[in-house]
Amino acid sequence: MKTIIEPFRIKSVEPIRMTTAAEREGILRAAHFNPFMIHGSDVIIDLLTDSGTSAMSSEQWAGIMRGDESYAGSESFYRLRTVVEELTGFEHILPTHQGRASERILFELVGGAGKVVPNNAHFDTTRANVEHSGAEAVNLPLPEASDARTRHPFKGNMDVAALESLVERVGPDRIPLVMVTVTNNTSGGQPVSLENLRAVRAVCDRHRLPLFLDACRFAENAYFIKRREPGQGDRSVKEIVREMFALSDGATISAKKDGLVNIGGLLMIRDEALFRRACNLLILTEGFVTYGGLAGRDLEALAQGLREVVEEDYLAYRIRSVGYLGEKLLAAGIQVIEPPGGHAVYIDASSFCPHIPREQFPGQTVVCGLYRVGGIRSCEIGSVMAGPHGQAAMELVRLAIPRRVYTQSHIDYVAEACVELHARRKELRGMRIVEAPEVLRHFTARFAEV
Ligand code: F0G
Repeated sequence: MKTIIEPFRIKSVEPIRMTTAAEREGILRAAHFNPFMIHGSDVIIDLLTDSGTSAMSSEQWAGIMRGDESYAGSESFYRLRTVVEELTGFEHILPTHQGRASERILFELVGGAGKVVPNNAHFDTTRANVEHSGAEAVNLPLPEASDARTRHPFKGNMDVAALESLVERVGPDRIPLVMVTVTNNTSGGQPVSLENLRAVRAVCDRHRLPLFLDACRFAENAYFIKRREPGQGDRSVKEIVREMFALSDGATISAKKDGLVNIGGLLMIRDEALFRRACNLLILTEGFVTYGGLAGRDLEALAQGLREVVEEDYLAYRIRSVGYLGEKLLAAGIQVIEPPGGHAVYIDASSFCPHIPREQFPGQTVVCGLYRVGGIRSCEIGSVMAGPHGQAAMELVRLAIPRRVYTQSHIDYVAEACVELHARRKELRGMRIVEAPEVLRHFTARFAEV
C-alpha cells in the first residue's frame, strides 16, 4: 500500500473548540497580537511547538500508574536507565525536569569566562545557558543553511572547516566541548549526517576535545540518516541511534520532543569524574539522582516513550506527515525551508509578504494572519525572537507539529488556511512593537498593526 497512515488508533479524544473569525479578531487584539498570550482553548490547531505537546500511548499511561514514587532508588529510574543504556550505550545518566536544566548543569561545570562553545546552531536556551556561565556561544552552520531554497540532504550539518579554524584561532584550551544539535532546530529541523558527526569527532580527537550532542530529536535525525545517507538504508534506526551516541562523550536531551512525554529531560556524561560533579549540582537544584525533578511516573512514561519513538512505522509516518504539509505549501507557491525538516515546516515570511520590511516583522504578520484565517497558532522565528540585540538570518514562521496529536485532515486544514492567507497576502500589514522586555522579548512583547 502506498498510503502512509497514522500507525495508531485513537482511544481518548480532546474536543477542539471552534471559533468564528469575528471571535478570533477580538482574541488576537486582546492578546496584543502575540500568540503566547492566547489561551489554548481559543486555538483550533496549535502548532506553537512540538515540545511537551505529544500524545502519550496507552502503554505510557499504564506506566503512569506503575510509577514508583520512592524518593531514592525508584524502580522507575532503573527501568529508564536500562532503556537509555540499551538505546545509547551511556551508563551514566541523570534525569532532569527538561532540556534546559541539563544545559544549565553542564555549562555551570564546563563553561565560564574566556571559554568558547561551538555548535552547529545553538537553540536559544542552550545559548542562554552558555552565555549565563560567562562563555561565548559560536554557531557554525553550513552556508546552505541560511538559504530557504537550497536543497541539501543534511542541511543541519556543522561546517567542519569552520570548526577547524575556530579551534586554531582560539586554541583548544578555551574550548571545553564541541556540541552538535540533532536535528538542527534553528536551521529548520534539518538533520546532521553520520559522516558529518564522524568528521566533527575526528577534529575533536585531534585536539582532545569532548563532543556532546543536543539530542532532543535524535530519532527523527536517525530516520533521515537511514533514508538519505548513502550506505545507511539497510541499517535499523536503533543501530544508527547507537552509533550517533557512540560518537559522542555526552548529551543533553529535552525528553519533551523525541521522549514522547509532556515533561522531562536527560543528561548523559561518559567521563566519570565530570558525571560525579553533575550529580552534586543536580541534587542542589533538581532533586536526588534517581528522580532529578521528575515524579516516578514521569520516568516510567519516558522509558516507554523512548522505546516507541524508534519504531520505524512511527518514524515513517512522522517524517512523512511533516513533509506532506511542506510539499503542499511549496506546490501552492509558498516558500518554505527546503527540504521540509523533521518536526516543523518553516515558512519564509520575507517571500510570503515582500512588501513588509524586516523592521515591520513579516513573520509576526503571517503568524497573526494564520490565527485570523484558521485559528492556527504558530511561532515567529525571526527579528522578533532574535532582537533587539541579535540578528536573525531569516524571517521565518514555524509550524511545529506535535507528535501523534493531529490527523491528516487537520494538516489539510492548516495547508488550506496557509493558501488562503497567501492569496490575500497583498492586504497584510506590518507590525510594530509597542512594549517589550530586553531579553526573550517574543514571549511577552505587545504589538500593534502599522
Ligand atoms: N535544545 C533544542 C534543540 C530545543 O529545541 C529545545 C527546546 C531545548 C534544547 C530546550 O529544551 O524546552 O525542554 O528546556 N525547544 C522547544 C521548541 C522549546 O519549541 O523548539 P526544554
